[in-house]
Amino acid sequence: MTATYLDHAATTVVRDEVAHAYAEDLRRLGNPSSVHSFGREARRVLEESREQLAADLGAHPTEVIFTAGGTEADNLAVVGGFHAARGTRPAVAISAVEHHAVLDAAHWLGSAQGAEVTELAVDREGVLDLDALTAYLASAAERTAVLAVMWANNETGALQPVREVVAAAGGVAVHTDAVQALGHVPLDFAEIGVTTLALSGHKVGAPVGVGALLARRDAALAPVLHGGGQERGIRSGTLDAAGARALALAVRLAVAEQASEQARLGELRDRLQAGVLAAIPEVSARSAGADRLPGHLLLTIPGTDADAVLFGLDAAGVAASSGSACTAGVTQPSHVLLAMGDDVRTARSAVRFTLGRTTTEADIDRVLAVLPGVVERARAANLPRQGASVTRSGQPRPAGEPAPSGRGRVAGVR
Ligand SMILES: Cc1ncc(COP(=O)(O)O)c(C=O)c1O
Repeated sequence: MTATYLDHAATTVVRDEVAHAYAEDLRRLGNPSSVHSFGREARRVLEESREQLAADLGAHPTEVIFTAGGTEADNLAVVGGFHAARGTRPAVAISAVEHHAVLDAAHWLGSAQGAEVTELAVDREGVLDLDALTAYLASAAERTAVLAVMWANNETGALQPVREVVAAAGGVAVHTDAVQALGHVPLDFAEIGVTTLALSGHKVGAPVGVGALLARRDAALAPVLHGGGQERGIRSGTLDAAGARALALAVRLAVAEQASEQARLGELRDRLQAGVLAAIPEVSARSAGADRLPGHLLLTIPGTDADAVLFGLDAAGVAASSGSACTAGVTQPSHVLLAMGDDVRTARSAVRFTLGRTTTEADIDRVLAVLPGVVERARAANLPRQGASVTRSGQPRPAGEPAPSGRGRVAGVR
């Protein structure tokens, strides 16, 4: 039974206060768009949540568009931004390390909607190359509908130079995916100056399936979902008062604790990193030379396949994640690490530990106690067939043996 959970970037613990408030509001009868007293009461909860969320994130209440999570918020910014500017601005530019919610949305615009899509290079630390951005803008600024650069990368934790991007962008709309950054580093929408910003509840202690897009009032966004015209006509769908309250409460608590948690998690992460590097030969801590989220530690462990390390860790009671996507049972190397210059084998050896609110010293001790042995076994298992896929036991899968069914397609690292 797993006892140490170090996958908080995938999803984190729902806060007790949030679960309580959410349960209370789930039982509240009334559609916030109805005119009767039930509806008006639900609307009050929703609008108070909107005001609270806006106040905590440096936004105006009218700039909050509630969505069903980070993926929808990213799609609305990228796809909606492109469609609003269609005809005049046919190009979309994104950093090469965006989450799939931005990456795949942009490439879908390219393949299905005729957009010109450019991926902007990053350096070895996974940080946007500002020279590449400047060169891109010099030739394509006037053609660009949306420029998307995330606030912090979900795999490495590397913080991106979003303020510099805004300064360079001129009149181009800038979208930032702040899903991983929220609650871990200070965040102020007005001060950053981006056009749109995506956030997600389940990364900060609210339930899965609620998020928001902060969108400046001059943001040009065409709706992606069509229907009842809720949320300024940009995001149709019955308004989720319970989800909005849960999101606003989780964000309030996360923002209140942000500075102390940043310091606490940073110390724990640094201890984990130092201990691992001292104990295991040839391991690299990725993006350690960049400003990083305090709770992120992405390791590449040469001579291993990440799956083998993860299964070994799981058997030892530690939950972590890989830096790879898994398509139909075959591990795919992370596009983030490839963009950082890794070869495929190195990219497939990436293991991510992400710390969160419930992480303790004991969790770090446990990883430090078990990881060296897990890596040693994974390396031994990998020797006969470097790069082979592995079974759940961490052993190389015999040639010709099909990958187990049911693993399905996991669309990238959460
Ligand atoms: C950087 C980033 N963007 C977007 C998302 C998608 O958010 P959601 O799970 O709320 O759809 C995630 C989730 O893993 C993420 O890490």
